[in-house]
Amino acid sequence: MNKEAGKRAAARAAMDYVSPEQTIGIGTGSTAKYFIEALGEKIQSGWSLRAIPTSMETDTLARAVGIEIITPDETTIIDLAVDGTDEADPRGNLIKGGGAALLREKIVAKAAKKFVVIADKSKRVSTLGAFPLPVEIEPFGWALTITALRQTLQDQGFSSPNVNLRQDKGGAAKSDGGHLIADCALGKIDDPAALDDALKRIPGVIETGLFCTMADVMIFGDEDGVTIDTP
Ligand code: 5RP
Repeated sequence: MNKEAGKRAAARAAMDYVSPEQTIGIGTGSTAKYFIEALGEKIQSGWSLRAIPTSMETDTLARAVGIEIITPDETTIIDLAVDGTDEADPRGNLIKGGGAALLREKIVAKAAKKFVVIADKSKRVSTLGAFPLPVEIEPFGWALTITALRQTLQDQGFSSPNVNLRQDKGGAAKSDGGHLIADCALGKIDDPAALDDALKRIPGVIETGLFCTMADVMIFGDEDGVTIDTP
């Protein structure tokens, strides 16, 4: 499958859910980038709308194509959020955070009236878990939090969870909010909501990349077009 064609097709199809004058939350990543490109074309054709970016990267890309940017605190209404995903199951459960923007993405998606997920078809899975689950954690006491994550995952039935602090070129990877990311390789997640609840009981955990039954619409693309799921 041509993944780039799939991402682009899904992002373009998401424009069917966008109207002028809306306030739109924009996700982060390579698929969201195609959505920003499509939004920019509408702005050039005379549309007016406002956007809340979920990362500095998205902020920069959106401004570059002429989209008006606001902060989440400048509005009480987000009409629509559009974002990519790392995995999506048929019930609208997602694993997100491959781009380390999961906290801001979740805040915006949860507040939006409608959450549209865009992805190439390889992200559509029957059960979540092949993609390591990103968990955003507080830097203070991070090693204790990693230990607690391992213990909690074992308590949840994952026999040998592989939990690693995400690294980038400069050392530990950081979210735009200055938090760290623990990637948890689990294999198969049978009950995403129970796992999300358990992980969030650990004091150093700020948010998990499990977006449980949050997607209202999921658009999956490949070179032949798109499939639209409404869980
Ligand atoms: C960023 C995310 C992204 O939406 C996710 O990683 C998918 O990225 P891409 O569209 O590049 O495949 O959750 O935190």
